Amino acid sequence: MTHLFQPLTLRGLTIPNRIWLAPMCQYSSVDGLPGDWHLVHLGARAGGGFGLILTEAAAVVPEGRISPQDAGIWDDAQRDAWARVVAFVQERGSRIGVQLAHAGRKASTYRPWAQQRGSVAPDDGGWATQGPSPEPYPGFADPQEMSPKEIAAVPRQFADAARRADEAGFDVVEVHAAHGYLLHQFLSPLSNLREDGYGGTLENRSRLLVEVVDAVRAAWPEDKPLLVRLSATEWRDDGLGVDDVAAVSRVLAEHGVDLVDVSSGGNVPAQIPVGPGYQVPAARRVREGAGLPVSAVGLITTAAQAEQTLVTGAADAVMIGREGLRDPMWPLRAAAELGVVPGDGAGARVPVPQPQYARAPF
Ligand SMILES: Cc1cc2nc3c(=O)[nH]c(=O)nc-3n(C[C@H](O)[C@H](O)[C@H](O)COP(=O)(O)O)c2cc1C
Repeated sequence: MTHLFQPLTLRGLTIPNRIWLAPMCQYSSVDGLPGDWHLVHLGARAGGGFGLILTEAAAVVPEGRISPQDAGIWDDAQRDAWARVVAFVQERGSRIGVQLAHAGRKASTYRPWAQQRGSVAPDDGGWATQGPSPEPYPGFADPQEMSPKEIAAVPRQFADAARRADEAGFDVVEVHAAHGYLLHQFLSPLSNLREDGYGGTLENRSRLLVEVVDAVRAAWPEDKPLLVRLSATEWRDDGLGVDDVAAVSRVLAEHGVDLVDVSSGGNVPAQIPVGPGYQVPAARRVREGAGLPVSAVGLITTAAQAEQTLVTGAADAVMIGREGLRDPMWPLRAAAELGVVPGDGAGARVPVPQPQYARAPF
């Protein structure tokens, strides 16, 4: 039996298979609201058999959005709009998680297909950004250094978002601490130059993340899993490395994190050796070093490659990003390619086409 189509149980949640949709911004919200686009986009991928669907980064406060068109979960109208998407995805047999995010110094930028690049000016709908230190991400506006009081507000913002996520019916929350967004900015010595209790040693730089995890864990039901996305390397000798990130992950496990979603980069410009499965070795090292389940992501595009990632013990699940944009039915296609059929093997859950599509089996 394949590894990909084995269920995975985290706390009280059983995820029907190990093929998960990676979080991907759609830059298509007004006032942070998920709309018809999100229902169709995520709903189609649930119908395609992804065991767990992660939403795009959903901002926990308006100023935490990457672009003015980002989705959010900072108010009850957004919660209610997500509830419609959640119910539709769950009715298709998938589980769904929301990625809770704050972009920090990388907030208030133009969406990728805008004519302009870089930071959005205040008179064009942008806002002033904040981060651990006043250094900007190259090419973006200077952030304001956060005061201790402003830092102290962050865990509550994530916790309030987690409570709304529960009310919307989400099965999972993922705290976004990767790709150079606020929590990663605090973790990294390249963006965190503080000299107070939130800067300096790795323990100090992880303090805000641990406080966020504690606050979310307290607001989020005990039987629902909590994931954290981390950049396992910054691809720079002077940046965070995989041993640092494994050490942070060990601490996170002690604070109730159930799985680390291992990505890389995003905090500073770097030469990244992008290629098939290029982040999988980092996932393996975090898994071995921290002793908790991990997911692997990054140019995992074929069924055989995804299966191999699990068979070799590098990860407990794979996340599929861009290949899942190209093909919403990627899991159904993978099942056919690997020769598994619904009902194969003890306890395995191979997805079946939605009944409306039953005449078009793979
Ligand atoms: C359009 C797009 C939007 C993305 N938005 C997010 C996001 O909101 N949060 C996040 O953690 N990663 C985001 N990513 C990164 C993906 O989750 C994934 O890690 C990356 O694309 C590598 O996986 P892939 O090679 O399978 O696409 C985004 C990627 C793409 C292509």
